[in-house]
Amino acid sequence: MNLSVTLFGITFKNPVWVASGTFGYGLEAMEIYDISKIGAVVTKGVSLRPREGNEPPRIVETPCGMLNSIGLQNPGVEGFLRDIYPRIKDVDTHFIVNVFGETEEEYVEVCRSLEDAEKVVAYELNVSCPNVKRGGIAFGHDPVSLGSLVEKVKGSTRKPVLVKLSPNVTDITEFARVCVESGADGLVLINTVLGMRINLKKERPDLSTKMGGLSGPAILPIAVRMVWEVYERFGRAVPIIGVGGITTHEDALEHIYAGASAVQVGTANFYDPYAPLKVIEGIKSFMKEKGVMDFSVLVGRAHRMDIKS
Ligand code: FUM
Repeated sequence: MNLSVTLFGITFKNPVWVASGTFGYGLEAMEIYDISKIGAVVTKGVSLRPREGNEPPRIVETPCGMLNSIGLQNPGVEGFLRDIYPRIKDVDTHFIVNVFGETEEEYVEVCRSLEDAEKVVAYELNVSCPNVKRGGIAFGHDPVSLGSLVEKVKGSTRKPVLVKLSPNVTDITEFARVCVESGADGLVLINTVLGMRINLKKERPDLSTKMGGLSGPAILPIAVRMVWEVYERFGRAVPIIGVGGITTHEDALEHIYAGASAVQVGTANFYDPYAPLKVIEGIKSFMKEKGVMDFSVLVGRAHRMDIKS
């Protein structure tokens, strides 16, 4: 049975990755299991300079999920290379760095700084975090800025560039189009959905920033719908990485049947760090039961079945 996938010239041992911001840099999980079994680790967002993130409270539970407003706390790219990279560089799986900047130049600078870090096989541009005042989502919500950013980063790196898109837009396929036309190697769908909770005891919003990003099972149908829409428009012309609400292998398969060539497990990691391994095993059992030898035949399958019915 072949679970490996080759996307943008890189072969991943399986299509199950972990999502940015839900697995740190892999260091904690590494202490409890062999993370090389995971198809790829997408790191927490890395920016040019260290960031403290937002004031607490910056996490709150919701029915079937959670809201976060971390604000991209991270040690900056130098801190990453100095303190984290030496501890991950011998792990036998791929790392993709989620890159954040307040300006185009900052994105380019972060990628340049990582260019010689061999373990980092690709970049995931974060243009969709809803919790920052400058940069990031300002690009992700404006097609012109988005296209310019993707072109600039593409022109300054040898590594594949993926773009993680925001669901907080009217038509995600338009933003996907801009990325494709600007040379993006892959699309990561979706980041968190903008939400809010009011704390009735305190009579104010729960989060210090008032609003934050909703993730977890509650957003699975939104993510699957957006993967479906983008696949319908572009087919396999650009690989889609599905993320949003994946807890079980069935959730992952919904993304895959809708058109994702790989998936990322996110919020589930917070309460079950073994979730990615369970999803990998579940997909294997599913393929065995169905008599499917090659994972790639599952990608976008619901579209083909849709035409037949
Ligand atoms: O606030 C945060 O750090 C979230 C980041 C993201 O959603 O990309």
